[in-house]
Amino acid sequence: MEKLEMMYEGKAKQVFKTDRDDEVIVRYKDDATAFNGAKKGTITDKGVLNNKITTFFFDLLAKNGVPTHFIERLDDREQRVKKLSIVPLEVIIRNRCAGSMAKRYGREEGEELAFPTIEFCLKDDDLDDPLINTYHIRALNIASQEDLDTITKLAFKVNDVLKKFLAEKEVILVDFKLEFGKDTKGNILLGDEISPDTCRFWDANTLEKLDKDRFRRDLGNVEEAYHEMLRRLTGKEN
Ligand code: C5P
Repeated sequence: MEKLEMMYEGKAKQVFKTDRDDEVIVRYKDDATAFNGAKKGTITDKGVLNNKITTFFFDLLAKNGVPTHFIERLDDREQRVKKLSIVPLEVIIRNRCAGSMAKRYGREEGEELAFPTIEFCLKDDDLDDPLINTYHIRALNIASQEDLDTITKLAFKVNDVLKKFLAEKEVILVDFKLEFGKDTKGNILLGDEISPDTCRFWDANTLEKLDKDRFRRDLGNVEEAYHEMLRRLTGKEN
């Protein structure tokens, strides 16, 4: 398989065409942004770490029956994945109330929810990714009820698998964001990444944050937190 020209550049990743119609190459960058690009920076080796962490999680999910776009990690920064037509929704699962949910409802960061919840945001930078409900998603022809049912079922399954695995590593999975898309055959697959950029991970004993909130909130030791997550998952330093 041959890597061809770049077809898309996002805040944290680049996507390259390949000589296959149904596959692309994703390259993970060190650039970090928060608050929809209002805060910018670089986290040394973030791309390398997120490539490895995402590879680990997508392998774990595949073993547990969750269909994903991931095929293989090619090198430190690149992955070969199935080409998806992305459903323009950010799918957020929460086990504890934190971040925008805590702010919106005036709750304490970290309050345990009675049960895991799901929410959808429209993926649109110009609009700051607004919350959207399932009626609006269907009425605006963003996704069908059938696709939403599949996405919802898969998102909660991802939560079950990751929450259980991370608990064994003494990490609380507070919340996370997923993206889904359709492959060239029309199957809904999990896409994008699962990393400290897209999840809130808290140490189960100290409640220390091991994710991008360290960058968003200027808490320091950002690189160390990403390294620590890789170490907890794989037992390896690199
Ligand atoms: O900011 P908020 O509390 O809504 O974020 C919920 C979860 O979704 C967090 O884990 C955050 O890292 C993730 N997220 C993301 N990309 C966004 C918005 C949220 O990965 N654009």
